[in-house]
Amino acid sequence: MLINSKIVSTFAVLFAALMFCSCDDGRIYDEDNANSDGFLVRLKGTLTGLNTWPENYSIVVAGFKSGTDYRVVAKDIPQSHEGKALSVEMSRVSSDVQTIELCALNRFGERVATFYSQPAEGVRDELTIDVGELDVSAFAAIQTMLFDNSCTGCHGAGGAGIGLDLRKGHSYDALVDMPSRKITDKKLIQPGNAEASVFSQVIQTDVSANWKMNHSDMLNKERTALLREFIDAWINEGAKK
Ligand code: HEC
Repeated sequence: MLINSKIVSTFAVLFAALMFCSCDDGRIYDEDNANSDGFLVRLKGTLTGLNTWPENYSIVVAGFKSGTDYRVVAKDIPQSHEGKALSVEMSRVSSDVQTIELCALNRFGERVATFYSQPAEGVRDELTIDVGELDVSAFAAIQTMLFDNSCTGCHGAGGAGIGLDLRKGHSYDALVDMPSRKITDKKLIQPGNAEASVFSQVIQTDVSANWKMNHSDMLNKERTALLREFIDAWINEGAKK
C-alpha cells in the first residue's frame, strides 16, 4: 500500500510538472488561494523612540482603507525592538487595504500619527517596505503633526511668538520644564501634569482668547482632537523625549 501510494503520488507530481512546465514561475496553482488569504507585508528598518509613547498607544505596521482612520489590520512593534534592526511581518492583508503605514494607534485602533505610508493597491503576494532609520517617538509625532504644520510660522527664529521656538531640534528644550512668559507662575510643560501646563492649555482651552494671538480659533478642533488627547497623555506620563 505504502509503495503504491508513493508511485501514485510520484505520477501525480510528474503529471503536474508536465502540465505546468510551460509556465515560468510555476506558482499559478495557488494564485486563487493567495488572493483569498491576502498578501504579506514585511517592514524593515531601525526605529527609535518606541518607549516614549504613553500607555494605551502602540506603534504598529497597519493597513487602512481610504476615508477612515481605523485600521483594517495591524501588527504591534514591541518596545524591545528599540534601536535594533527589525523585520516585522504581517500576513493575510486583505486586498481592499489601500495603504500600509508605520503609525501610532490609540486603544480603539484609530490612527493618531503616521510616520511612513506606502500605497498597497494592486499588491498580490508580498510588499516589502524599508523605512531605514526612523525616529518614531511621541515628540517626533508632535513636531511633525502639530508644530511644523501650525506653529513654526510664528514660533521660529525670532518671529512673532514671544520668543518661543517650536522648530525641530529646539522645541523640546524650549517647552519641557521651562517657565511660561504669559502665565509666569506656570511651566509650559510640567511633566506629569498636563492640566497645569501652559502649552496644553493653549491647545486645549481658550486661555489665549485675550492674548495678542488667540490660539483657540487656530486649530481645527475636530481634526486635531485625537492628537491633543494623546499630547495630554504624553505629558501626564512624564513627557518622555
Ligand atoms: C500667528 C502667529 C502664531 C501662531 C501660528 C502660533 N502662535 Fe503661539 N503665540 C503667538 C503670540 C503672538 C504669542 C504671545 C501672545 C501674547 O504675548 O499675548 C504666543 C504665545 C504662545 C504660547 C505661550 C508662551 C509662553 O511663554 O507663555 C504658547 C505655549 C504658544 N504660543 C503655543 C503655540 C502653539 C503650540 C502653536 C501651534 C499650534 C502656536 N502657538 C501658533 C503667536 C502665534
